[in-house]
Amino acid sequence: MPGIDVSELRKYYGSLKAVDGISFSVRSGEIFSMLGPNGAGKTTTIEILEGLRRQDSGSVAVLDLDPWKQGYELHRKIGVIPQGFSFFDKSTPREAIKYYGDLFDVKIDPDEILREVILEDAANTRFENLSGGQKQKTGLALALVNNPELLFLDEPTTGLDPQARRAVWEVIRNLKKAGRTVLLTTHYLEEAEQLADRVAIMNKGHIIATGSPLEIITTYSPSERLKVTAERALYDYVKQHTDLNAEYDDATKSLVIQLRSKSDAISAFETIAKSNLEWSDLSTERDSLEDIFIKLVGVRLDEGEPVPNEAVQAPAS
Ligand SMILES: Nc1ncnc2c1ncn2[C@@H]1O[C@H](COP(=O)(O)OP(=O)(O)OP(=O)(O)O)[C@@H](O)[C@H]1O
Ligand SMILES: [Mg+2]
Repeated sequence: MPGIDVSELRKYYGSLKAVDGISFSVRSGEIFSMLGPNGAGKTTTIEILEGLRRQDSGSVAVLDLDPWKQGYELHRKIGVIPQGFSFFDKSTPREAIKYYGDLFDVKIDPDEILREVILEDAANTRFENLSGGQKQKTGLALALVNNPELLFLDEPTTGLDPQARRAVWEVIRNLKKAGRTVLLTTHYLEEAEQLADRVAIMNKGHIIATGSPLEIITTYSPSERLKVTAERALYDYVKQHTDLNAEYDDATKSLVIQLRSKSDAISAFETIAKSNLEWSDLSTERDSLEDIFIKLVGVRLDEGEPVPNEAVQAPAS
């Protein structure tokens, strides 16, 4: 089943390389998230896939169609929420759905669509009086009017409070359950972790990592770490008696040992026990998607303009 195929896609605005040679594919029926900071090139990519912008080079197939040349055919099969979606202040979600149904010239049951986006309660509330989450759900409802197999959601939860964001997530999960394919952009790591089957981390026009959240985590952070609160003497003991990869942080009084293998784990436990030194708060941890984003991009997603961090590369596989 065709989803989306993108190969070596480029779009420059003058000297600004908004999208600079990206390749990825989205499988039918999955939720795929493009995750990246402001200006990463997410919207430019989505607009090319929707047939709203023409690429400079590279090939793009959406549901086996060329979005630029076969836009009319494509637009019947896709649903779109543009970034910063808005609608007429005085219209209600029910009116908006009917209006879109007329535009697409399709027979629809507004109640069914309102149910799918969990918006029955606000069906007759004017757009201007809807909460942020309800406004986004209205956008989702309109994107569903033509019963699309594929939806493009450009930052559907930006600016929403955590509760409203979760309500929109529930709707997006329902879309997947109904067999629809979703391409979603977001600034929120948690959103990508919660929803996406696969993620492309994008920065400055490039895709810097791609895969399921777990695949990305195991690629860039292959081992777990054992963490123990103790005095520095325990670190010295471990270093003296083993070749374990250990570090000590004076500020938090924590000894951290990389567990590269099962025997590392056994050796770490045995050595700590043999030392007869005091320790507490033993735990194991692994990088989160957020930790990896920071390693790859240089700063947290919510901390403004990122700087590329050339030093961090995917380990050779
Ligand atoms: N029509 C345009 N003309 C010139 N530059 C543009 C145009 N559209 C986007 N850009 C620039 O291209 C880069 C990528 O923009 P894009 O909107 O694709 O990023 P984004 O990842 O969607 O960002 P955001 O998270 O802020 O929505 C940015 O530097 C932006 O300023
Ligand atoms: Mg954008």
